[in-house]
Amino acid sequence: MPHKVQAVVVRAMNGPLSLETILVPDPGPGEALVNILTCGVCHTDLHYQQGGISDNYPFLLGHEATGVVAAIGDDVTNVVVGDRVILNWRAVCGECRACRRGEAQYCFNTFNATQKMTLEDGTELSPALGIGAFAEKTLVAAGQCTKVDEDVDPAAVGLLGCGIMAGIGAAINTGNVGRGDSVAVIGCGGVGIAAIQGAKLAGATTIIAVDIDPRKVELARALGATHGVNSRDEDPIEAIRALTGGNGADVVIDAVGRPETYRQAFYARDLAGTVVLVGVPTPDMVIELPLLDIFGRGGSLKSSWYGDCLPSRDFPMLVSHYKQGNLDLDAFVTERIGLGQVEQAFEKMHSGAVLRSVVVL
Ligand SMILES: NC(=O)c1ccc[n+]([C@@H]2O[C@H](COP(=O)([O-])OP(=O)(O)OC[C@H]3O[C@@H](n4cnc5c(N)ncnc54)[C@H](O)[C@@H]3O)[C@@H](O)[C@H]2O)c1
Ligand SMILES: [Zn+2]
Ligand SMILES: [Zn+2]
Repeated sequence: MPHKVQAVVVRAMNGPLSLETILVPDPGPGEALVNILTCGVCHTDLHYQQGGISDNYPFLLGHEATGVVAAIGDDVTNVVVGDRVILNWRAVCGECRACRRGEAQYCFNTFNATQKMTLEDGTELSPALGIGAFAEKTLVAAGQCTKVDEDVDPAAVGLLGCGIMAGIGAAINTGNVGRGDSVAVIGCGGVGIAAIQGAKLAGATTIIAVDIDPRKVELARALGATHGVNSRDEDPIEAIRALTGGNGADVVIDAVGRPETYRQAFYARDLAGTVVLVGVPTPDMVIELPLLDIFGRGGSLKSSWYGDCLPSRDFPMLVSHYKQGNLDLDAFVTERIGLGQVEQAFEKMHSGAVLRSVVVL
């Protein structure tokens, strides 16, 4: 018998979010049914609403979640009923060419649940990032559940399920930030500030926060940045160079994902430095750069999907750092809201009023 639960759905491009009854099947082989405790509102949910990711409407939104395993299907060995889990969108297959060469963080064949969640009339839902957790229950592949300690605030650690992991990983995994490095982060929303925390955790000594919103620059400074640049008032390339002995930063992380911010990242990094693109561009965006500059400046231009994380390795490690006080996940939880307030949370995210609104179920 499918479970009837309340969930946040968007039916058409730029359409309103609606709180609807959906049907969630019992888990089949390899699947887990999860009672959701908390789910953060990520910019990627807004991208789904606006058609920036795909046009497979209706979408079941929400994907930065903590929950408790309510039921498991056959052949599930990694979790048991009652486990506290963070949901991830990288359940690795173990068999694709990336997995076989020992780079499961790039798995090209990640799992989601096989069975579909539906609207009451049977219309299949597309869960955001294969999760769909603005709902009382969701159905995922068991590998999308990463068991973590129970003695922590679910709202805080659940953010590791997407944006905060993406930001931290952009610094520590993709950017390979090392002790003494200089790092600049363009865009200080949840993802960018997480990249700042990641850079700090990795031992960077100069961490420059760049945003067009002075409130975000200030917040980033309170949460680990050593310097702040308001890129509405000053040229961020010149400012970052000035703060790094005229050279540019070793690693520049673009946590916005627009042609102008990527260009800034490209020219604000030192020779042989690294650019990490973690912000997600939309399909219409195009960038033109002199090929000679790409060649002549050397280094590497990388993209970071999900912070190149391996959930089974990185979530428990980061929860430990959180418990030890090395990582301030509480600071990302600006407000706790109900399922019916996600649309307002989008507006607050858009206006820069919050780092993360977290739905508590
Ligand atoms: N790569 C991944 O796996 C991954 C995972 C989660 C989110 N994301 C993406 O990361 C991006 C950021 O997400 P978020 O949740 O932090 O969003 P957010 O809306 O909370 O923050 C975006 C920040 O960028 C700033 N900004 C906007 N335009 C700017 C500009 N031109 N220059 C400087 N700053 C600018 C805003 O003021 C805001 O502070 C989004 O594109 C999101 O889709 C990527
Ligand atoms: Zn794989
Ligand atoms: Zn996300």
